[in-house]
Amino acid sequence: MAKDPVSELIGGGVRTRTPFTSLLNRFLYKFKLPWKVVKNEELPHVMCSVEQRINFSHLVDQVLAYGVVGDLVELGCYEGQTAALIQMVNVRHQARPFHVYDAFVADWNTRSGTVQERLKRRFAAAGLPGPIMHEGDMRHTLPAELPERIAFAHFDCGMGDDPERHRDLLLHCLEHVYPRLSPGAIAVFMDYHDPDRTVNGLNSNPGVRMACDGFLADRPERMEVLYGNDFSHGYFRKR
Ligand SMILES: C[S@@+](CC[C@H](N)C(=O)[O-])C[C@H]1O[C@@H](n2cnc3c(N)ncnc32)[C@H](O)[C@@H]1O
Repeated sequence: MAKDPVSELIGGGVRTRTPFTSLLNRFLYKFKLPWKVVKNEELPHVMCSVEQRINFSHLVDQVLAYGVVGDLVELGCYEGQTAALIQMVNVRHQARPFHVYDAFVADWNTRSGTVQERLKRRFAAAGLPGPIMHEGDMRHTLPAELPERIAFAHFDCGMGDDPERHRDLLLHCLEHVYPRLSPGAIAVFMDYHDPDRTVNGLNSNPGVRMACDGFLADRPERMEVLYGNDFSHGYFRKR
């Protein structure tokens, strides 16, 4: 039987055991040594952890299964690692329109083609319909190109740059996305890191918490942290 496609996108490229590490671990266990060897096989240019992909699959599935009204959006899609996963869960249901927004300027990858071409290839390779692409600086494409109602939003526009600049960009996005979120909609923020609550993750883009906590201060929603291993993220559910 074919492997489950969502699981393939979550962990298909990650293998932490090999016959050699298993042998070493049997030896360590036998001699009661308190270590375990795992193969370090991160995907090249990985944008999120396996734990985060699991979180995404459940959160997207949740809004679709419970019929939360609206389209799906991702603000900052780069070459589509998280977007392909969101779309894979989306097509399991009666697929909703899925919009992605990016300036497609940053490129951390040396592989062939432009960022947009690699995104399209990733979707095609997974047998997925392409997302609706909104190319340009989000300070210009939002709000004009946003759908009327939104059920799921992923905010991922951090590039390790100046926290105040990143906060201001996210505040611009939030100002326009928040009123379009339906009751029960989920908004996930890559790199949301609360030093008092996040377990293990890095604080790689501090502007995210500055924007989220500041924006929600006088609103009824509160940020929840999610476990992402060495990455951080969090979400709120619209009241
Ligand atoms: C960390 S990457 C997104 C990773 C993506 N979610 C993935 O899983 O592959 C951040 C993206 O945000 C985009 N970005 C940052 N600032 C932007 C802006 N002002 N307007 C449009 N895109 C922007 C960058 O071009 C980059 O592709």
